[in-house]
Amino acid sequence: MKILVINGPNLNMLGIREPDIYGKSTYKDLIEMIQSHADSKGIEVEFYQSNHEGDIVDRIQAAYENVDGIVINPAAYTHTSVAILDALKAVQLPTVEVHISAVEEREPFRQVSYVSYIAEKTITGKGFDGYIEAIDFLCEKIQKK
Ligand code: DQA
Repeated sequence: MKILVINGPNLNMLGIREPDIYGKSTYKDLIEMIQSHADSKGIEVEFYQSNHEGDIVDRIQAAYENVDGIVINPAAYTHTSVAILDALKAVQLPTVEVHISAVEEREPFRQVSYVSYIAEKTITGKGFDGYIEAIDFLCEKIQKK
């Protein structure tokens, strides 16, 4: 089983950006945490981070028939990107949306998520643990297929 973990703009700045909201751990810490969880479950994970919408669309398209599921934190593109939603709809892969912060308790513009239209589950406000929950959810779902 292979799961693709996509992180959108500014998530490469974890640990530096707004630590009161996103915590002090870095993007590298996040990757290491997910990787070790995946290793313990015997599943393969691929990571992709980009600050560019079109590159994220390209990466989702490349996942077609190559991975079993997607965990995505589209970051700011969550609230704006029909293109990322359409790419996810195109590849038809089980998808879980993750947000480190509790977006529902933040500014009104963060209340809209285009990706939520396709995501089978949305996890918010659980910090990095949200990614682990997302992986576990996908594993269970894919194994049942
Ligand atoms: C975020 C929430 C978004 O609103 C924001 O633009 C991000 C990160 C989160 O993980 O909480 O960059 O997706």
